[in-house]
Amino acid sequence: SADDGYRLWLKYDLLKNANVRAQYQPFTLYIAHAATDPVTSTAAKELQTGLQGLLGKSIRLQSTASTAPGGISLELTTTPQPNLGTEGYSITTQNTRVKISANTPSGLLYGAFALLRKIQTATPLSKIPETSVPRVQLRMLNHWDNTNGSIERGYAGASLWKWYELPETVDPRYRDYARANASIGINAVVLNNVNASARFMSREYLLKVKAIADVFKPYGIKVYLSVNFAAPRILGKLKNSDPLEPAVRQWWVDKASEIYGIMPDFGGFLVKANSEGEPGPQDFGRTHADGANMLAEALAPFKGIVIWRAFVYKADPKGDRFKAAYEEFKSLDGTFLPNVVVQVKNGPIDFQPREPFSPLFGAMPKTPLAMEFQITQEYLGFSTNLVYLAPLFKECLDSDTYVKGAGSTVAKVIDGSLHQYPISVMAGVANTGSDRNWCGHLMSQSNWYAFGRLAWDHQLSSSAIADEWIKMTLTQDAGAVKTILAMMERSREVYVDFTTPLGLHHIMGQGIHFGPEPWLERSARPDWTSIYYHRADSIGLGFDRGINGSNALGLYHPEAIKQWSQVDACPLPYLLWFHHVPWGKKLNTGRSLWDELCTRYYTGSTAVGTMQREWAGLKGKMDAEIHADVLGRLGAQQREALWWRDACVLYFQQYSKMPIPAPFTPPS
Ligand code: GCU
Repeated sequence: SADDGYRLWLKYDLLKNANVRAQYQPFTLYIAHAATDPVTSTAAKELQTGLQGLLGKSIRLQSTASTAPGGISLELTTTPQPNLGTEGYSITTQNTRVKISANTPSGLLYGAFALLRKIQTATPLSKIPETSVPRVQLRMLNHWDNTNGSIERGYAGASLWKWYELPETVDPRYRDYARANASIGINAVVLNNVNASARFMSREYLLKVKAIADVFKPYGIKVYLSVNFAAPRILGKLKNSDPLEPAVRQWWVDKASEIYGIMPDFGGFLVKANSEGEPGPQDFGRTHADGANMLAEALAPFKGIVIWRAFVYKADPKGDRFKAAYEEFKSLDGTFLPNVVVQVKNGPIDFQPREPFSPLFGAMPKTPLAMEFQITQEYLGFSTNLVYLAPLFKECLDSDTYVKGAGSTVAKVIDGSLHQYPISVMAGVANTGSDRNWCGHLMSQSNWYAFGRLAWDHQLSSSAIADEWIKMTLTQDAGAVKTILAMMERSREVYVDFTTPLGLHHIMGQGIHFGPEPWLERSARPDWTSIYYHRADSIGLGFDRGINGSNALGLYHPEAIKQWSQVDACPLPYLLWFHHVPWGKKLNTGRSLWDELCTRYYTGSTAVGTMQREWAGLKGKMDAEIHADVLGRLGAQQREALWWRDACVLYFQQYSKMPIPAPFTPPS
């Protein structure tokens, strides 16, 4: 039914196997908690609702502590336990008693969802006990939602936030959204687009925002807002927004106390400044640090933070956009106030199907760096392509920066352990919208889920996360789980192969970022063309970023450079990111560059056909509507894959002047 898509991974339907249910019976007579705060109450109620559904019986809820056998108790520690951190939990079992303990109500909430997840996925009793603490403090979604209900790069309908109705009307869906986030550990949400309307700073909008914040609060989620740097001029009618101008500083100080007067739990600001035409401190000859510090000073008395984005680049046809963020931010390390975080996209360009990690990771030891991943599939086929993103996220997090010796992974930069950052943040650009199933493509729900799970614990494997998600969302049929898991695990590589194999990047349709357009030669900006990135010519293909080229490679640590600098040793997934390679060059696959390129385009698009057939074979193993919907989208993906393949092979062939290799040519 349509409802199956709506319920995400929170389907608490009766566990089909009676033996599995029976093992949980002895400790599910009651749920008890003595804490009186709203978050603990949420935890208890979620447990009750979930377990009643899964086990098909009613379970008593009592708001006093209990040590009687047969139940689950939620207990706040009387003295803080260091091993549980602020939001961690432990689940212990003793005879027929389960105890969830935590230092804070949020910890209890996460413990409750963890227990539910275990029971929902039929985990044996011996594996129920667990202690888990999040590795990252702020696990955050960034919504790119506008006041008019549209979403920048949103492919699942309109915005969830109904600004015109708020604050008087509060859509019950806000609560469903909050539950889903809490269940995967997300504790922070930026409601609006980084290309921010100044209106979000108006009292009118702040009251609307408060209405949403009130719904999120019992789920342990804080609200943040993207701000327009020119708000003092636009809203405050000041003559400019110069961060060193006393009147401007005062405007922000006043605005901060107004905001915290309305929402004492407000999280802080996210800022896109001097990027893609947005206003910023450089408009007045000031630095990013001047701008960020002004806002940080205004928020500091309320413990708010400023998350300042490093997504900046200049239109220079001779330059290399790869280097832009590094060049603007590296030298500012150490100049930001303690409540400023700099948010960096995972790769140096822009959410491509594959990028090397941004060279800023590891380069700013004195400034907490936040990770910005994109969950919405802007460059990854919108909502017609099945692309499981956990392998992409993991690939970046597991990359070694080498800045403090081998093992200095990007994950350790982000979780703060490498440089002892006081604040740690992982953000994901949300893929939710008003579509009944939230994400457009049902399978894209897994990307929301995986983002949250990895933000909690980046050591989880992408297959373990997919396995949980499939069992909670689609089916527990062992064969079907196996087929779907294998499909998800290879889906990102398949997408890379039929769109941008071997390190090609940014050759998609102009502006829309969909479909192939490698022939794009002119646009409003030189770094928004395709030929700027792929550099195809009669000799070969790829962007030389070595010492004879842009030397973007030189921004990395020498050990990281080593892995990519030699054309013969460079791993093929990154080859054309760093080298201009002759068409006839023999690669370690035994094929020439041209033959390898064709092979990837052809095998990638064929693999989509295989996914389609495999999915068709799953009929009857899951909800019929979900099955049919995903099958339809795989059909669309197949059509798009052929479009990509033919467009790119025929376009690049004009330069290689070589025939399409035999296995792929139709018999004459
Ligand atoms: C991409 C995207 C824009 C977005 C920008 C950003 O360039 O296409 O729509 O505004 O990223 O992250 O700021």
